[in-house]
Amino acid sequence: MVNYPDPDAKLLRATVSDRLGIPEEMIVAGNGAVEIIYLLMKTMQPRKALIPAPTFNEYEIAVRINRGRTKDLLLDEGKGFVLDKEEIFRQWDDTDVIFICNPNNPTGNLTGRAEMEEIIQRAARLGKCVVIDEAFMDFVADRVNYSAVELVSKYDNFFVLYSLTKFFAIPGLRLGIGLGNPGIIKRINEIRDPWNVNSFAQLAGIESLRDEEFIRSSVEYISGEKEYLYHRIMSVKGLRPFHPSVNYIFINVEASGYSSAKISRVLGEQGILVRDCGTYKNLRPVYIRVAVKKREENDRLVAALNELGRNLNGTGDQALFG
Ligand SMILES: Cc1ncc(COP(=O)(O)O)c(C=O)c1O
Repeated sequence: MVNYPDPDAKLLRATVSDRLGIPEEMIVAGNGAVEIIYLLMKTMQPRKALIPAPTFNEYEIAVRINRGRTKDLLLDEGKGFVLDKEEIFRQWDDTDVIFICNPNNPTGNLTGRAEMEEIIQRAARLGKCVVIDEAFMDFVADRVNYSAVELVSKYDNFFVLYSLTKFFAIPGLRLGIGLGNPGIIKRINEIRDPWNVNSFAQLAGIESLRDEEFIRSSVEYISGEKEYLYHRIMSVKGLRPFHPSVNYIFINVEASGYSSAKISRVLGEQGILVRDCGTYKNLRPVYIRVAVKKREENDRLVAALNELGRNLNGTGDQALFG
């Protein structure tokens, strides 16, 4: 690697263009999707952004470090934290940008494409911009019903974030893509670091996006395994998993009597890492998120969760966890 990386990531962008059917001038590559979120906010300098809660917390940070304010769109726990477009329309009056994570992190909830288009259209009429984060969309088997990528060429007022670190399992390499109107992309290119995506990441991205067999078999594997893990978790006493759309499962642990922090700690001590979602805004400390992995690892997780459940039954030492 004696040469600098291609500052324009030309081959990578051409590959993305081929795969997603988007013109190259509407594509920018970043050091992870997170870099694109930060660059986008630096470019747009929104006055106030509407951000659903719970969701990925980098949106709020990116808006705030660019001196913008944020308004929380509190998703209703009683309705399973589903995004309600009418609620967006009611609450977005004084905001100029709205973020939508689709599928949402950490709930896995999906918003349909038709609904998304309605939001984008109405936002356009009001001069607002919609930022859609599709970091986990590659895992969705029927993505045509949900992905807004195809709409990018049709509307000027929205931007799609796409990450390669999740689906292709390269978070350490850092690679994300932004899709949007050429004007915004041009401004991002003017302010970003010239060599923001290293050569390894560019190469890995090109090869990964061309690997149809890996893409097909991964979607197929995750589609099956997430159902398996979901049903196994459903049978664990005290746990209420949300039906998963992607490679993670959001679980309400309230009836177990343990907090999300406690469960995460107990599992962590056994070398099983789950996400304590108690730190997300608008979530009570009774939610965890677990990853769908290989069958053996999934079975280990379920066995450990069952062990917790047994302690709850009074057959073990609850004080161990309490
Ligand atoms: C919803 C969402 N968007 C974007 C990212 C960032 O992805 P990247 O690794 O490409 O920066 C994450 C990482 O956790 C995420 O959960």
